Amino acid sequence: MIRFENVTKRLGRKIILNDVSFEINAGETFVIVGSSGAGKSVSLRHMVRLLTPDRGKVYVGEDVVSHAYGKDLERIRSRFGVLFQSAALLQWLSVGDNVGLPLREHTAMGDEEIDKLVIEKLELLGLEDAFEKHPADLSGGMQKRVGLARAIIMNPEIILYDEPTSGLDPVTSRTIDRLIDDLRKELGVTSVVVTHDLHSALAIGTRIGMIHAGKMVEIAEPEDFIKSDNEVVRGFLEAQYITKEGTWEKEGES
Ligand SMILES: Nc1ncnc2c1ncn2[C@@H]1O[C@H](COP(=O)(O)OP(=O)(O)OP(=O)(O)O)[C@@H](O)[C@H]1O
Ligand SMILES: [Mg+2]
Repeated sequence: MIRFENVTKRLGRKIILNDVSFEINAGETFVIVGSSGAGKSVSLRHMVRLLTPDRGKVYVGEDVVSHAYGKDLERIRSRFGVLFQSAALLQWLSVGDNVGLPLREHTAMGDEEIDKLVIEKLELLGLEDAFEKHPADLSGGMQKRVGLARAIIMNPEIILYDEPTSGLDPVTSRTIDRLIDDLRKELGVTSVVVTHDLHSALAIGTRIGMIHAGKMVEIAEPEDFIKSDNEVVRGFLEAQYITKEGTWEKEGES
C-alpha cells in the first residue's frame, strides 16, 4: 500500500533516512517508533510528499507519490487523512468549521450536510460541546481530538497519525487507540501511527517498525517486537521497563 524504496533523505547536514526500504500493507496499523529526532515525522511527511527523497521512491499503491505533482498529487493526497504532531488547527475558525473544512474545500456539500457529518465525528471523539468554540478555548488534548476529527472527516482510506496520544490522559489515549483500531477492523482503513506511547504501539499495531540512525532497524508484530534481540529495540523497551516476557519491571530488580 505504502512502499519506501531505497529512500535517502538529508536535511541540513544530517542523513535522516539512509537507503530505507519497507512496505506497509493495506489494512494494517503500522506503528513507527524511535527516539526523538530519529526521523519518524520525516518519514510520514514523505508519504504525502511534504518532503521529497534525495534518492529512492515512495509509492502509494501503484502511484509514485514522491515524484507526483499537480492533479496526480492532489488525487493521491485525497486518499489520506493526516493528524500532524501539532494539531495544526486554524485559530480564527470555530471547531466545527475546522473539522468541516476539508468537506467545504473538496466536496459540493451544503452547510447543513457538512454540519451533520461534523457533529457525528465530534460525538465520536467526545467533543459534542466544542462545535462553536475556538481552538484557543480548548485544552491541548481536546485540540488534538479536533485534529483527529478533521483527519477522518472525509473517511480516508489511509490515515497518518503523528503522536495521536501525546499530551492526553491515559483514559482519553485508550479512546483514541480504540478509534484507530475500530477504523481498521470495521472499515479496513490503513493507518500509520508515530508514537512514543509503547502501550498504544503494542495495543493497536499490526506491526511495529523502529527507526534508528537512518535505518528501519526492526519491523515485527507486537509479540515479536518485545522479544526482539536487536540492541536498539531492547534499549527502547527497557527504557519503558518492558521485559522480553512483556512484563513490567521495576528498575533495580531482576
Ligand atoms: N525541514 C527541516 N530542515 C532541517 N532539518 C529537519 C527538518 N525537518 C526535520 N529535520 C531534522 O530531521 C531530524 C528528524 O526529524 P523528525 O521530525 O522526523 O524527528 P522525529 O523522529 O519525528 O522526532 P520527535 O519524536 O521529536 O517528533 C531531526 O534532527 C530534525 O531536526
Ligand atoms: Mg516527530
